[in-house]
Amino acid sequence: MKPGYHEIYSRYRDNIARGVLKPGDRVPAIRVLAAQLKVARKTVETAYAILIGEGYLVSAGARGTRVNPDLLLSSPKPEQQATGTLPESLIGQRERAGFLRPGVPSLDAFPYKKWLLLAGQATRAMRQEEMLSPPVMGWYPLRQAIARYLNISRGLSCTAEQVLITSGYSGSLRLILDTLASRSDKVVFEDPGYFMGQQLLKRIVPRLHTVPVDRSGLNTDYLLRHHRDARFAIVTPSHQSPLAVTLSLPRKQQLLDWAGQNGAWIIEDDYDGEFHYTRKVLPSLKSLDQHDRVIFMGTFSKTIMPSLRIGYVVMPASTVDAFTDCADIVASGQPILTQKILTAFLNEGHFFRHLKKMRALYQTRRDWMIAALREVYGDRFFTEQNDGGMHIVAFLTKGSADRDIARCWQQHQLQVNALSEWYCGSGKRYGLVMGYNNVRTYQEAVELLERPKQQTLEIMD
Ligand SMILES: Cc1ncc(COP(=O)(O)O)c(C=O)c1O
Repeated sequence: MKPGYHEIYSRYRDNIARGVLKPGDRVPAIRVLAAQLKVARKTVETAYAILIGEGYLVSAGARGTRVNPDLLLSSPKPEQQATGTLPESLIGQRERAGFLRPGVPSLDAFPYKKWLLLAGQATRAMRQEEMLSPPVMGWYPLRQAIARYLNISRGLSCTAEQVLITSGYSGSLRLILDTLASRSDKVVFEDPGYFMGQQLLKRIVPRLHTVPVDRSGLNTDYLLRHHRDARFAIVTPSHQSPLAVTLSLPRKQQLLDWAGQNGAWIIEDDYDGEFHYTRKVLPSLKSLDQHDRVIFMGTFSKTIMPSLRIGYVVMPASTVDAFTDCADIVASGQPILTQKILTAFLNEGHFFRHLKKMRALYQTRRDWMIAALREVYGDRFFTEQNDGGMHIVAFLTKGSADRDIARCWQQHQLQVNALSEWYCGSGKRYGLVMGYNNVRTYQEAVELLERPKQQTLEIMD
């Protein structure tokens, strides 16, 4: 049988991992290998594109394609060959995609072939006028496609004119605050809250306050007691970042009432709301918003890949003009080619199919990770029941040394975060925030967790 692109990709990866192909070695040209294997050029091209994307190969233009000379390969250990796992030295390369790094989608399951096809079509169809500056608010067909998707899947009721295309979280948040906030406005953020968000807000918001999060999400009673006068509340209602809890319905209502009565804005960061496993996808907070006080923002970082750098804001109808004026000055649009590829991906149904597949896959990988944690660490960590998202929190049963443990795991290339570092105020909890989407087997999850076991137990005891 002729090999498919995935088999060619795997052959290269394994040969590089086993040291058969060495850094700097030249690999055959696409047409030569395609002829040799009797496969279409596209098949080899796809395999090479993935290998280049993952850093195994580099392309040197006319001088051909080589094994990345910067790969640091040590002699492989025999048992690693036997189990087929990667040698330590390659992990740095894979690591960029992230072992256990929270929030990275399953990169091995992305439909690269389809994407490459759409990319080719989009590139060939580029018209000269599209080579000028991209539209500041986003390419209109993409705004239409996103509006359709959100109305069907996230329960919104928005028009394409309300959708603004950004570069992701910080682009969206900056534009929202640039457009609607004044420097004297009080902004509240969740505690614990998304670490990168906290860092960004500390730099740009003079009056930043935090509101504690418990098992029902943001503590809205606390908000009303201490920060009723806030103008903005930035929240992750579907799947709190990082505690992974869902904002309860009574609290959602309380939050919406507060915003309606006080003329405040709620910024709903729906970063991974697509992923719920034990019940149907939860409706967004925006879908309950009677007074049009919720500004909804989302991203394709979790559903497609973080390097895409495409996110969006759904602007309340009353603010579209203000956003347009502001974006005209402070924004410069996103790459048109990427927007066109993404539009085709959405409009041709691939996005829905991909999400459906990912929901099933993530649930399996999440179960593996939770079971592997128990197998390797017994009851030293525990997880809480919640049904969605792309990361888990492994709480420490005893002690508060999550920073030391996270540092130790990072030395083993396990890019987990210490939960306590995501807190600003008191009431800290301790644990590890970890992703699981790129763990390809249960055995791999166990092997990864075994790596820092000895030191972790020493820190814990
Ligand atoms: C809470 C939260 N919001 C938003 C994002 C998305 O960020 P971006 O769109 O910039 O990739 C992330 C990514 O990790 C996140 O954890």
